[in-house]
Amino acid sequence: MKKKFLAKALSVVMAAALLTGCGGGKDKATSGSGGDGGSDVITVGFSQVGAESDWRTANSESMKSTFSEANGYKLIFDDAQQKQENQITAIRNFIQQEVDYIVLAPVTETGWDTVLQEAKSADIPVIIVDRMVDVSSDDLYTAWVGSNFKLEGQKACEWLKAYAAAKGMKEINIVDIQGTIGASAQIGRTEALDEAVEANGWNLLAQQTGEFTQAKGQEVMESMLKQHDNINVVYCENDNEAFGAIDAIEAAGKKVGPDGDILVMSFDTTKAGITDTLSGKIILNTECNPLHGPRVEEIIKKLENNETPDKQAYVDEGIFAHGADVDKVTIDDTDYTVTEVTEDVIDGRAY
Ligand code: AHR
Repeated sequence: MKKKFLAKALSVVMAAALLTGCGGGKDKATSGSGGDGGSDVITVGFSQVGAESDWRTANSESMKSTFSEANGYKLIFDDAQQKQENQITAIRNFIQQEVDYIVLAPVTETGWDTVLQEAKSADIPVIIVDRMVDVSSDDLYTAWVGSNFKLEGQKACEWLKAYAAAKGMKEINIVDIQGTIGASAQIGRTEALDEAVEANGWNLLAQQTGEFTQAKGQEVMESMLKQHDNINVVYCENDNEAFGAIDAIEAAGKKVGPDGDILVMSFDTTKAGITDTLSGKIILNTECNPLHGPRVEEIIKKLENNETPDKQAYVDEGIFAHGADVDKVTIDDTDYTVTEVTEDVIDGRAY
C-alpha cells in the first residue's frame, strides 16, 4: 500500500545515500512505517468481536494461524468482549501504531462511520470480516468477506416447511432465540424467520436475544418454557444457544429430537453442533463458516500486488440435517442440497 511503498522507497534512497557517503540518517531497520520498522513484515491489527461462541474461537484461530510470524505477519489481536466501544478504541490504537491493515469483525452493524473515516484519513485500508457494517459510504472500507446471513435463515426456514409437510406436522409453534441484537448474523436470520412465519402461518410464540452464548441461550429457553407449554420448534441463531436450549428443555423434563417434544434448529455447524445433529438433538444445522483467515489474507495479497479485491464476497455454505427427510430446498429458483449428517461429515469438520 501507499505507506509501505513510501517506506520501501525511502529505505532504497537512504541505502543509496549511505553507499555514496552522503548518508547520516536512520538505518533501514528503523526507518519504515507500518509498526514493523520498514521491514517486509505486514502488520495487521485485528479487532475481534469477543469469545462468545465455539464459532468465534474457530474464527480467531483461523486468523491467528494465517497471520503468523512464520507467514510474514505481525498480528495485533484485540478481543473486544462483545462491546463496540472496545472495538472503536482498538481501531484508534491500530491507527496510532500505524499498522498496514486493519481487520474488523464488527459486533453490530451501525456506529462505525467516525472511526472508519479516521482510518481512511490515516490511509490505512480496512477489511471487514464476518458481519457487515452499515455505513454512510462504502468508501469507508476496502473490502468485506463473510456470510449471507439472510440466506442462511431462508435455507433453515425452507427446510422446516418441507420437513413439517413430510412429517405431517399440523402446527408450528416456534420460539426464536436471537443472536446479539443489531449484528448482521441476528438481523439476517431473524428477518428470514419473520418472513417465513408470515408466509406459512406459523405461530411465533416468543423472540428474545440469547446473545450468541450458551448461558444466555439456556436462561432464555428456561423462561420461554415457563411461559409456553406448546413449543414444538426452537430456532436458535447459533450452536452455543442451541446447547443451552437443549439443556433447558431436558431439565424441564421434555425431550428434544424427531421423536420428542421439541425440534431444535441451529446455525454454525461446529463439530459439537453437527455431533448433536447426528444424534437428532439438533434437527437442522445451517452452516456459517468461520475459517476467514485465508480469505482475508487473499484480500491483503491482492492489495499488496496493487490489485483490486472484490468489494464484497459471500462464502459458500451448506445445510446439514438429522436424517434424510428433505434432500434439497429451493430459494429464488436456486436449489440448495441438504446433507444428512453422518460420522464421515463430523470427521471431515475442521472446527
Ligand atoms: O457472526 C457469526 C456468528 O457469530 C455465529 O453464528 C456465532 O456463533 C457467532 O458468535
